[in-house]
Amino acid sequence: MSDVQFSPQRLDEILTLVKRYPKAQSAILPVLHMAMEDFGHLSIPTQQLVADTLGVRLMMVREVVTFYTMYREKPCGRNLLEVCTNAGCMLNGADELLAKLCEKLKIQPGETTDDDMFSVIEVECLGACGGAPIVQINGDYHENVTEHHLDDVIAKGRTHDPI
Ligand code: FES
Repeated sequence: MSDVQFSPQRLDEILTLVKRYPKAQSAILPVLHMAMEDFGHLSIPTQQLVADTLGVRLMMVREVVTFYTMYREKPCGRNLLEVCTNAGCMLNGADELLAKLCEKLKIQPGETTDDDMFSVIEVECLGACGGAPIVQINGDYHENVTEHHLDDVIAKGRTHDPI
């Protein structure tokens, strides 16, 4: 048995959720969100737990986790900055923005700063192209992001205040 376990309350929640769907596998996405909330990221043992809980093969869970950028397989820093570099954002300077952000934090996309304060990842279209370039910061959308905006975000993040 894996060291990773859902709490009894979480298991009740999952059971209630699964009843809404014709098949347990349809609940993979929401259960992965719950697992990420509980464990911070989706390690292989956590993905196995999701598979075992839903009675599906690990490969089915892996297919979902590796397809969507919203699922994290690695732990991330206190502040997660997700930069969309899809067409709409790219045409509005997202590549340069991502490069500047990484330069300021001295990391590469997909990495976390040494002090664990910031992680930066590159993501596909966040569905808010009208406000391009978009950066999702700790789950909140920030539109028309500029380098100046990123300076504020970094400064605030370093003070331990919520961004
Ligand atoms: S292209 Fe960036 S939000 Fe759609």
